Amino acid sequence: MTREARAPAVRFDRVSKTFPGVHAVDDVDLEVAPGEVHVFAGENGAGKSTLMKLLAQVEEPSSGVIELHGTPMRFRGPGHARDVGVAMVHQEFALAPDLTVGENLFIGGEPGRGGWISRGRQRRQARTLLSRVGADIDPDRRVGALSTAAQQRVEMAKALAVEASVLILDEPTATLTRNQTEELFAIVRDLTASGIAVLYISHRLDEIFEIGDRVTVMRDGAVVTTRPVSELDENALVTLMVGRAVDNLYPRQHARPGPVRLEVRNLTRRDVVDDVSFDVRGGEILGMAGLVGAGRTDVARLVFGADPRDHGTVTLDGTQVHIRRPADAIDAGIGYLTESRKTEGLALQLGVDKNITMARLPMWNGLINLRAERSVATRRRDELGIRVPWVGRPVQALSGGNQQKVVLARWLETKAEVLFFDEPGRGMDVGAKADMFREMDRLAGHGKAVVFISSYLPELLNMCDRILVMRGGRVAGELAKEEFSEERVVALATRAKDQND
Ligand SMILES: Nc1ncnc2c1ncn2[C@@H]1O[C@H](COP(=O)(O)OP(=O)(O)OP(=O)(O)O)[C@@H](O)[C@H]1O
Ligand SMILES: [Mg+2]
Repeated sequence: MTREARAPAVRFDRVSKTFPGVHAVDDVDLEVAPGEVHVFAGENGAGKSTLMKLLAQVEEPSSGVIELHGTPMRFRGPGHARDVGVAMVHQEFALAPDLTVGENLFIGGEPGRGGWISRGRQRRQARTLLSRVGADIDPDRRVGALSTAAQQRVEMAKALAVEASVLILDEPTATLTRNQTEELFAIVRDLTASGIAVLYISHRLDEIFEIGDRVTVMRDGAVVTTRPVSELDENALVTLMVGRAVDNLYPRQHARPGPVRLEVRNLTRRDVVDDVSFDVRGGEILGMAGLVGAGRTDVARLVFGADPRDHGTVTLDGTQVHIRRPADAIDAGIGYLTESRKTEGLALQLGVDKNITMARLPMWNGLINLRAERSVATRRRDELGIRVPWVGRPVQALSGGNQQKVVLARWLETKAEVLFFDEPGRGMDVGAKADMFREMDRLAGHGKAVVFISSYLPELLNMCDRILVMRGGRVAGELAKEEFSEERVVALATRAKDQND
């Protein structure tokens, strides 16, 4: 055997990365074999994404060596990583929303001669790549107009466009439904069968066991352990990740629905949401299930005034409220924790403190009371375990899961009486999720009305009092707690054959 064939696809040799005040990656030694699905797990801020960014040359290691098929990589930036066969699908997609799918696929490596791009050829190549990842997307569509799931396929196709031998997927299923996840797994298996090494970050325990060959658990930047997945069970894995057993993932206690607080009637937006009506009681957590694209987010956005509606009324505590913009909704006491924290949720350059108090700044004589802001933010940081050394630090320096916690903290700070949580657990580690669910339960316990949108059914089944299932922009059905079952939800969500990519 040649040296190349025997060498691991990737080898980290005493690799570290420090940011001011943070040891993001701490002396990591690790090997990934060709054809292996190597899962990375660990709490929010454990250093998973940073380790991957070092391999993809998005960040330069502070020390240590990374080898690719036995050859040390010199740091020359992401373009170089692509050239040597390392592709990464980021946790927050890095696509250019205003370019077309085809243009996005070939940024930095257009097919064509001497800088000339052959449109026809580009389109054909784009179609081939997209079909390899099971996506039937028109290469001429603008990326910004695609669903998150479709954008992810474009990201993967983009990774394949460079003929990678190492593919990094950073929480690829956070926004996918069960079926889409199955499809993704089939693609991953296909890729590994051809010898590609897949480095796969995930917080979802079930899928770690389903797709992973080995799992490396990280904590505080360091590797806790690397094990074959077959040697572990869920409890053992959680304990390794969090450093303690998490006994109750779904702490639902206060299930005493009171009077109706939010009434939504005949909500309609052409081609998107069709005549949706529902009530939410105080003290209730109403689940919203459905495939990606079924209209759950659209409903939330319409109620919140983020999109214009064609018809429909929103009544809060018996009084109809007129919502034209999100500011009207916030004034009325309706909150919306959006699913896309990066584009809608956060001011990335501003501090954690500003981001938390944004919706309700502590004012004093018309001036923002900085000290109050800091203390509010510090309290929330400790409560939710937001991993940041000081609350003035810009949100962009936080890990994905910690950014999500900042958005959550902000809505907990507002005095909203009705709260929409849209995929709130996305990107959170198991411990953080349990904390967040406890907060949701507490809100309901205080008589607030909570709407919980999630694509992960166990969450809905365990946390909700009632589940509304959407399909194709309509309410396909409603399940009372006694009727809850995964099969029933799936049946309602998929009965008619949909085209939700
Ligand atoms: N550009 C940066 N500047 C400063 N600190 C950073 C930067 N990027 C990451 N960090 C810090 O490094 C640590 C590790 O972050 P990383 O994003 O690798 O975590 P993670 O394991 O991917 O977490 P998550 O599960 O939340 O995505 C965190 O404390 C984070 O705040
Ligand atoms: Mg991450």
